[in-house]
Amino acid sequence: MDHQTRGLRLMGQAGTCRVVLLMVIVVAIVLGLQYFELTPIFIVSPGNGTVSKVRDSNNITKSAENETFLASQEASTGIKPLNSTEVFKILEHKFLNDSPKASGQDRGNETASSLHSLPPKIPQSNKKHEHMSKKKRPLVVISITQMNNMIMKRHNDPNNSLAPQWGSKVDEELKTARNNIKNADLVKTDDTLYAPLYHNLSTFKRSYELLEQTLKVYVYAEGDRPIFHQPEAIMEGVYASEGWFMKQMESSSRFLTKDPTKAHLFYLAFSSRILQQKLYVRESHSRTNLVKYLRDYIDLIVSNYTFWNRTRGSDHFFTACHDWAPAETRRGPYMNCIRSLCNADVGKDFVVGKDVSLPTTKISSAQKPNGNIGGNRPSKRTILAFFAGSLHGYVRPILLNRWSSTPEPDMKIFGRIDHKSYIGYMKRSRFCVCAKGYEVNSPRVVESILYGCVPVIISDNFVPPFFEVLDWESFAVFVPEKEIPNLRKILISIPLRRYVEMQRRVLKVQQHFMWHDGEPVRYDLFHMILHSVWYSRVFQTFYPN
Ligand SMILES: *[C@@H]1O[C@H](CO)[C@@H](O)[C@H](O)[C@H]1NC(C)=O
Ligand SMILES: *[C@@H]1O[C@H](CO)[C@@H](O)[C@H](O)[C@H]1NC(C)=O
Ligand SMILES: *[C@@H]1O[C@H](CO)[C@@H](O)[C@H](O)[C@H]1NC(C)=O
Ligand SMILES: *[C@@H]1O[C@H](CO)[C@@H](O)[C@H](O)[C@H]1NC(C)=O
Ligand SMILES: *[C@@H]1O[C@H](CO)[C@@H](O)[C@H](O)[C@H]1NC(C)=O
Ligand SMILES: *[C@@H]1O[C@H](CO)[C@@H](O)[C@H](O)[C@H]1NC(C)=O
Ligand SMILES: *[C@@H]1O[C@H](CO)[C@@H](O)[C@H](O)[C@H]1NC(C)=O
Ligand SMILES: *[C@@H]1O[C@H](CO)[C@@H](O)[C@H](O)[C@H]1NC(C)=O
Ligand SMILES: *[C@@H]1O[C@H](CO)[C@@H](O)[C@H](O)[C@H]1NC(C)=O
Repeated sequence: MDHQTRGLRLMGQAGTCRVVLLMVIVVAIVLGLQYFELTPIFIVSPGNGTVSKVRDSNNITKSAENETFLASQEASTGIKPLNSTEVFKILEHKFLNDSPKASGQDRGNETASSLHSLPPKIPQSNKKHEHMSKKKRPLVVISITQMNNMIMKRHNDPNNSLAPQWGSKVDEELKTARNNIKNADLVKTDDTLYAPLYHNLSTFKRSYELLEQTLKVYVYAEGDRPIFHQPEAIMEGVYASEGWFMKQMESSSRFLTKDPTKAHLFYLAFSSRILQQKLYVRESHSRTNLVKYLRDYIDLIVSNYTFWNRTRGSDHFFTACHDWAPAETRRGPYMNCIRSLCNADVGKDFVVGKDVSLPTTKISSAQKPNGNIGGNRPSKRTILAFFAGSLHGYVRPILLNRWSSTPEPDMKIFGRIDHKSYIGYMKRSRFCVCAKGYEVNSPRVVESILYGCVPVIISDNFVPPFFEVLDWESFAVFVPEKEIPNLRKILISIPLRRYVEMQRRVLKVQQHFMWHDGEPVRYDLFHMILHSVWYSRVFQTFYPN
């Protein structure tokens, strides 16, 4: 979506005054920051990867959340900036209170204007420019800390849980599970789970145990192949996550139930990639028929079964890795559905605390889903930072302009390179840059982890996978898009011993990002994706009293 459409949508939902105020304030903050940006010094906070910019004793980048700083902005500009509570409010208006009624009409039809990321199959040079010029940096940038606050807020707000139309035994089971998770026994260490990787090891461990003991999933038999129920068609390539999940879900002996009254979750087994391949009419710039196809399916489920109506869809979920999936499923019946999306963009349609982030895994061979996992140990990683890829989106051209012809030999920033060299660099670099393409997600995040390279995520508003349990800042670096010119400074400011610890954590987190051919393995990608959905369900179930 381009800048203007975005602005218009915000206006429609949050009110003109708020948006104008917001824009004024953003300008004020930007001007304020520029004033302070004379001699920036970067620090990466010890214990986690939060990048802060400091000058003398002023913490500038973090200060978007610092009330003292905001007050000083007010004093110098005469404009009262938004505090973090107010930023949340705007976002809540945008997402959380989105009722099907309100959004059905005013979001307009699927038109060329919302088709910003057509598949880059044949890279025609004029098309590329079209993409680049259309997309700009998002207006509001949500930090990882703010995302964490948003999830806490949603999970503790009973208003975000829908009362079921009628009660069921599963409601009680979910309620018990939530109480057990909240009152989990304290666990300080674990043989297979490395404590520093998690926001709270005790909570995650308990939640995972309960997943294994309790969760039952029902899969509707309805749905025509190949869009539904045909994972074999999507086991390789960059959208393969949805295929692997579908295959392992539909053949799970542990989690499936044939009795829908026992199910805590209902899985809609479709592939967003095959939907696009089969139904998108080239050059039509319209997704209307794709949206209709899915809507017809939901209508069938709604009319033929009582389960959707019981919870208004809030116990139904799907996984979708194609770029278009969030837009295709943002309206109407999907309002309560748990969407597991690769394109997890909190600045757009992703609802933190309800939707979950699906890892993008690029699979070259279905026989070897994790590639040649491994890489050099820290002392043998001689390259500071590596990136290679096509110039999709607006971030990568900025990255390449600044760093591809730099005199610093430790920055290896390229356009497209061959696959073998690409893997070689990942194994020999300290940091691997995961810069957004047309959309926020990139297979580089999982690749970096599997090759033991500390991910440097340059993708504002990207919600990293499993972030409800993983403390991403403990093993990855998040560099705001506007700090690309300072990338090297930020990375060299990370002390070596801290780097070594981060890299160690990357190796420890690998188990959560691996597929296993045949039976899934405890804590692997399949289970972690299912856990995300389970966790969202448990903390959004309606709890009277
Ligand atoms: C990261 O470090 C900063 C500064 O030390 C701290 O305020 C923040 O709470 C830390 N985040 C986590 C998740 O530990
Ligand atoms: C910057 O803020 C972090 C916490 O956000 C704090 O730990 C650190 O000491 C601050 N640095 C300075 C120089 O004030
Ligand atoms: C907030 O900013 C002020 C100055 O701008 C600084 O003195 C103070 O330490 C900061 N507080 C935090 C929690 O970062
Ligand atoms: C943020 O602003 C709102 C509305 O102006 C106010 O009610 C709230 O107390 C503020 N929060 C903080 C932490 O200052
Ligand atoms: C959407 O498309 C339909 C049919 O083309 C049209 O009747 C309707 O007015 C459009 N709605 C909007 C909001 O553009
Ligand atoms: C929930 O909704 C009620 C009624 O609209 C409101 O009074 C209450 O403050 C809300 N609770 C929260 C936590 O927002
Ligand atoms: C983790 O969660 C448990 C259970 O809710 C709680 O007792 C404990 O204090 C939490 N630990 C941390 C570090 O927040
Ligand atoms: C849906 O229900 C109708 C009426 O009971 C039935 O005729 C139809 O076969 C069902 N459709 C599917 C796909 O099960
Ligand atoms: C579910 O609700 C919808 C709309 O309220 C209704 O049309 C449909 O028949 C209901 N489904 C069942 C199975 O009763």
